[in-house]
Amino acid sequence: MSQSPTSSAPANYTWAGRFSEPMSDLVKRYTASVDFDQRLWRQDIRGSLAHAKMLAKQGIIAASDLADIERGMAQIVSEIESGQFEWQLDLEDVHLNIEKRLTALVGDAGKRLHTGRSRNDQVATDIRLWLRDTIDSIVALIQQFQTALLVLAEKEAATPMPGSTHLQVAQPVTFGHHLLAYFEMTQRDKERFLDCRKRVSRLPLGSAALAGTTYPIDREFVAKELGFDGVCENSLDAVSDRDFGIEFCAACSLLMTHFSRLSEELVLWMNPRFGFVKIADRFCTGSSIMPQKKNPDVPELARGKTGRTNGNLVALLTLMKGQPLAYNKDNQEDKEPLFDSADTVIDTLRIFADMMAGIEARPERMRGALAEGFATATDLADYLAKKGLPFREAHEVVGLAVKAAEAQGKDLADLTLAELQAFSPLVQSDVATCLTIEGSLAARNHIGGTAPEQVKAAVARAKSRV
Ligand code: ARG
Repeated sequence: MSQSPTSSAPANYTWAGRFSEPMSDLVKRYTASVDFDQRLWRQDIRGSLAHAKMLAKQGIIAASDLADIERGMAQIVSEIESGQFEWQLDLEDVHLNIEKRLTALVGDAGKRLHTGRSRNDQVATDIRLWLRDTIDSIVALIQQFQTALLVLAEKEAATPMPGSTHLQVAQPVTFGHHLLAYFEMTQRDKERFLDCRKRVSRLPLGSAALAGTTYPIDREFVAKELGFDGVCENSLDAVSDRDFGIEFCAACSLLMTHFSRLSEELVLWMNPRFGFVKIADRFCTGSSIMPQKKNPDVPELARGKTGRTNGNLVALLTLMKGQPLAYNKDNQEDKEPLFDSADTVIDTLRIFADMMAGIEARPERMRGALAEGFATATDLADYLAKKGLPFREAHEVVGLAVKAAEAQGKDLADLTLAELQAFSPLVQSDVATCLTIEGSLAARNHIGGTAPEQVKAAVARAKSRV
């Protein structure tokens, strides 16, 4: 959608009056932002129209000026949409490109548009408008991902898999329970984006360059027109604040961290040594040399792209840390990291929502891994402790039993009652249930636990929280 701007130099700069020589081509290229900020054109026009409407309402420009501006802007919208608009590098940024074209189309009314406004409050307004819409899209995509995740979690609510600590088999959990951990993470992500949105939704316009303006403006009117929840209270802060962008990038980084963790698990689970899941072929690629390969490229890339969003966050923090009030040209550097984090998150969410629907569990492989890891050892220790043996002693007794079973190449559940009783006379025939995977799972029957009954209830609650 973004087009490369042309560089056919019109001699009359916006600020030509004050200058005695033109910019070199290198400086022009260095200082221009139009090749990336043209992406804000819809927000720029929307902001300008609200501003013009307010100027007319306040009698600062004539009603006929407003009509001209509206007509010109409608023409510009259709030129940009049809790819006919000529973006010019000499006009530096999206704001001056649109304003210049407007003036070419409607004359003096176009020149009056910038009354009581500066590009400093204009660009801050554009970014906030863009970010608000972007947050809304991201929240909707998180919900799509969660919906797909819950379908799988519900289907696998009772499917046992090894739960790990230190990536070693620890205790049985259900695959559904494991998936629900990602529901919680993305739920917090959603809350973070919505919280950030509150601070995005404030109008900087009216702050002009830094100190406000001498015209009798109505900022509340403009805020309402643009759907903001209020106005920025301090003009200096309004034009220089980029906290909201940093918060947004932080929320993006955290979300990507969650998807990076999920990706790492998918990479492991897809490996034939685990073989816990199959991922639909459309998310994998082959190798140009090894005919047998099926690589989990999508999760690997998501894991890698987390570096990109972390970089963007650090870039914005660094951008702001030394800036004196108010606006500085440094701020022009805020856009690319912001856009990049948003694009990365949006693509990742889209692809993962689709990929979740294509994940197939392999319960027999999960059960096989559980059988090898003495996953019910804690259950046996709890069993003995409930019969009166102090837990620390029970822990030791079970450790000895595990050692013995391991030497015989057996699982705890394969030991006979007599063999178990050799370790502790407290063991009775009722030990059998606690040593089975199903018994172990069912016993963790409380809110937040992995008992299939609890997982089903958690899925139901999660559905209402989406
Ligand atoms: N392109 C500029 C930016 O993105 C617009 C604001 C320019 N303001 C200025 N005083 N030069 O920040």
